[in-house]
Amino acid sequence: MTQTRARILAGNWKMHLAPGEALEYFGSLDKSLASQPLNPGVRRVIFPPAYCLGADVQRAAASAKVELGAQNVHWEEKGAFTGELAAPALLNIGIRWALVGHSERRQYFGETDETAAKRFKRAATSGMNVMYCIGERLTEREAGQTYDVLTRQLTPFLGVLRELLDKPGTQWPDTELWCLAYEPVWAIGTGKTATNVEAEDAHKHIRKVVWDQLGMQVAQKISILYGGSVTPENVSGLMTQPNVDGALVGGASLKPDGFAKILSSA
Ligand code: PGA
Repeated sequence: MTQTRARILAGNWKMHLAPGEALEYFGSLDKSLASQPLNPGVRRVIFPPAYCLGADVQRAAASAKVELGAQNVHWEEKGAFTGELAAPALLNIGIRWALVGHSERRQYFGETDETAAKRFKRAATSGMNVMYCIGERLTEREAGQTYDVLTRQLTPFLGVLRELLDKPGTQWPDTELWCLAYEPVWAIGTGKTATNVEAEDAHKHIRKVVWDQLGMQVAQKISILYGGSVTPENVSGLMTQPNVDGALVGGASLKPDGFAKILSSA
């Protein structure tokens, strides 16, 4: 099953690094990667802050064989939405990836399952690759609600995906990549990673929900990344789980030598 799915290793810089630092970072990453064999079948993406998405940083990232993506994208093509980013404009400057529904957007900026699904729809119909984040909070896990929360978060996303796939002539995207990132909130930035078994268990549930709502073919094809305190030390164990197709890395993506190790782990 795993072989049919895209494998993706991604970094989320959040609100760290300025453009000058990003240029230095990619120079160092390129050097570190020179001595590490890279699997050509793996997509590598970094989501830096929006001011690091310009042509010079894109060029530096490309030399290090990394694509860049935006940490957010709006559901309208343009308009009076101060502080937001438009999908057509991102594509216009060469940015093909967007992160949607990250738990920090949900926690601090009022993102909901519904607004996240709307962002996904716009980005996907504009031709962008999307990494769509879901994950339960600690209180929800402790109350035994992990599966219910994941199912609830997935449902609006899968509704949009069904709409997109139902359009005549639409097949699972050849060029666009729409994937999920399971990021348990209690594991983000806490140093407390989900165990391999916990990650696999949640990913299996997510794939089952996709299967129940959209059928086997989509369930087998959708990549599900794990995120939450991924490090160079624990990434290989997570990546060997049958339903873990990649990793979304926050803190450990900020150091080029460590991130190079993660990039060469799959
Ligand atoms: P972390 O962040 O690796 O620092 O836990 C992951 C994320 O928020 O995507």
